[in-house]
Amino acid sequence: MKNKICLITGATSGIGKATAIELARLGFDLILTGRNEFKGKEISDSLIKKNKIKSEFIKCDISSLKDVRNLADIIRSKYDHLDVLINNAGSRFNDYQKSIDGIELTFATNHLGHFLLTYLLLDLLKKSGEARIINVSSSAHYGKQIDIDDLVNPKNYNRSLVYGRSKLANVLFTYEFERRNTSSNISINALDPGGVATNFARNDGFVSWLKHISYYIIKRQLLTPKQGAETVIYLASSSDVKGVTGKFFYKKKEIKSSDESYDEEIAKKLWVLSEKLCSIT
Ligand SMILES: NC(=O)c1ccc[n+]([C@@H]2O[C@H](COP(=O)([O-])OP(=O)(O)OC[C@H]3O[C@@H](n4cnc5c(N)ncnc54)[C@H](OP(=O)(O)O)[C@@H]3O)[C@@H](O)[C@H]2O)c1
Repeated sequence: MKNKICLITGATSGIGKATAIELARLGFDLILTGRNEFKGKEISDSLIKKNKIKSEFIKCDISSLKDVRNLADIIRSKYDHLDVLINNAGSRFNDYQKSIDGIELTFATNHLGHFLLTYLLLDLLKKSGEARIINVSSSAHYGKQIDIDDLVNPKNYNRSLVYGRSKLANVLFTYEFERRNTSSNISINALDPGGVATNFARNDGFVSWLKHISYYIIKRQLLTPKQGAETVIYLASSSDVKGVTGKFFYKKKEIKSSDESYDEEIAKKLWVLSEKLCSIT
C-alpha cells in the first residue's frame, strides 16, 4: 500500500478514526477531514509518528457546499492523484435543522456533501492506477423510501426516517455512480458497518447516545470502532475486492441492500436533484 493516498471524511472519531489508524499501519498516506481541527491534527500527527507515512488534516464541514469546494480545491492543488476516497462522515439529529445552504442537515451531511466531494475529486481518482470509492451507509436504509420532493425541506420531520433516507441515498448514489461510470479504474461500493460504539448520536446528548448503543447491546451486536471499521478497511485495501464495484457489503461479505436501493428511476432523480443543489452543470 506504499504511497497509496486515501482521503477519509469524518476521521476525527469512531469508524473514520479507526480506519485511519489501520490504513496508516498498512502504509497508506492519508488526508483526514472533519470539523474539529484540534482532534484532527492530533490524530494525523500521531499517525505520522507511529508509521512511516504522510498525513495531513484539512478542516471541512461536509454539510457546507462552500467548505466542500474549498477542501477539493486544497486537495487538487497539492495532490496529483487520489487512490481511495472514503465517504464516512455522518450524523443524525433529533430536531429539524438546516445546513448553511438551507438544506435539511442530515441529507446535506450524509449525502449531498459527499456527492459534491466525489464529483470534484473525480479527475484525481481517474489518475490513480486503481481507485476505490467507499460509501459508509447503514442498515437504517432498509425499509425506507425516498420522496424526492421531501428531501430538501421535509414536511414532517422524523429523525429515523430522515436518517434512513440519507443512508439509502448513499446506496442509490453508489449504484447510479457505477451505472454512469466510464472509468474502468474506479470502483465504488457501499457498506453497513453494523452497530458500533462510537460518538454517533452524541450530538443530541448522552441519553440519545445511550439509547443508540443500548439497542445493539441488547441484541448482543455492539461492535468496537476497530471492528466497525473492518469492512471499510477491507474495501479500501484488500486484493479480494479489486475490480469489484457497485455492491453492498456487511461483515466483509457482499449482501443484498434494500429493494428500494435498486430502483433506477429514483436513483436518477436523486442524481439530478443532487447536481442541481450542487450547481453542477
Ligand atoms: N455507529 C453506528 O452504530 C453506525 C451504524 C451504521 C452506520 N454508521 C455510519 O458510520 C459513519 C461514521 O459514524 P461513527 O459511528 O463513526 O460516528 P462518530 O463517532 O460520531 O463519527 C462521525 C464522524 O463524522 C464527522 N462529522 C459529522 N458531521 C460532520 C460534518 N458536518 N462535517 C464534517 N465531518 C462531520 C465527525 O467529525 P467532527 O465532529 O470532527 O466534524 C466524526 O469524525 C456515519 O456515516 C454513520 O452514519 C454508524
